[in-house]
Amino acid sequence: MPLLEIKNLNLEFTHRGHAVQALQDVSLSIEPGETLCLVGESGSGKSITGLSIARLVPTPPARYVSGQILIEGRDTLQMSEKEIRKVRGGVVSYVFQDPGASLNPVFRIGSQIKEVLTLHRPNDANNAEVIRLLKLVGIPAPESRFHNYPHEMSGGMQQRAMIAMAIASRPKLLVADEPTTALDVTIQAQIVELLRDLKRELGMAILLITHNLGVVGDIADRVAVMYAGQIVETAPSRQLLKLPLHPYTRALMNSVPKLGSQAERLTAIPGNVPQLGSFPSGCRFHPRCAQAKDDCQKTSPELVEGGSNSQRLVRCPYWSADAHPDEGSGPVPSPQQGA
Ligand SMILES: Nc1ncnc2c1ncn2[C@@H]1O[C@H](COP(=O)(O)OP(=O)(O)OP(=O)(O)O)[C@@H](O)[C@H]1O
Ligand SMILES: [Mg+2]
Repeated sequence: MPLLEIKNLNLEFTHRGHAVQALQDVSLSIEPGETLCLVGESGSGKSITGLSIARLVPTPPARYVSGQILIEGRDTLQMSEKEIRKVRGGVVSYVFQDPGASLNPVFRIGSQIKEVLTLHRPNDANNAEVIRLLKLVGIPAPESRFHNYPHEMSGGMQQRAMIAMAIASRPKLLVADEPTTALDVTIQAQIVELLRDLKRELGMAILLITHNLGVVGDIADRVAVMYAGQIVETAPSRQLLKLPLHPYTRALMNSVPKLGSQAERLTAIPGNVPQLGSFPSGCRFHPRCAQAKDDCQKTSPELVEGGSNSQRLVRCPYWSADAHPDEGSGPVPSPQQGA
């Protein structure tokens, strides 16, 4: 059984009396111990997807219209407040970009972590366990850091402290929403490395939300790409990096800065992510797609298998012709081979 299975989730927001669709038929799953990267530009719906898991999107203005969010087979959308509180910070815990979202400035780091222990693992709520956690996330001199207030730590150390707090409950799923964007590049790499080590050590699954496809190769088992409230492609990460099928994924990959490459060669995707309430007809990406055909503005594409491997899904009927321009539009024999 997958640890997490989101099935056909539809979510809308109400703005001035009007309902606008924010997530359409979002489906994704995460196996125990697996790392899934959810990537896409700003405003595509990554955070609300992640927050939905523990029902953290405020209702109103949001409304869960339909779909299921199964954690170990149980639908969080159907849980009572008491049940969902157990899931939050217990089975599923979160690391956010902004330390202010998780760390309370007026309490010492150590006591904040101990509070999580008291709530979820009361038998282990002692200083020694807090120090062990601080050590586990690579905080040097944990015995003295225990007594620090958040402002006495650097951004990278605060991020590590937040991760310590998030893993204190021994979650089965860690949702890390842009945990590195506020940090400089070297620290970013260290945090990604830390998450990868923790996943190995603790066996927890990770949903890593990022707008940067560049981190995928370092940590992800699988990738889901989001655009305008829809999943447009999912694939095992090595296969996706080797051969992205959706034109949006390809555009996103071209916009990833490569180490040592010249800045001029970095192409931004033309146009903007469409606003909620004004998604284009047909394929939502068609106005920005270099490969768009006439019918792309009329027909909404379904997610279809990309190649003979059912592990790949792509929301573009022209993926094969475009991924393999020399081979015509017929099905391509297993593009995943050798990945
Ligand atoms: N509480 C809210 N009320 C109304 N609209 C919201 C709310 N939260 C998110 N939205 C809208 O939902 C859409 C998706 O937002 P979301 O935060 O999930 O995007 P994202 O992919 O995480 O972007 P970013 O990379 O900037 O974090 C956006 O258009 C956003 O404005
Ligand atoms: Mg976000």
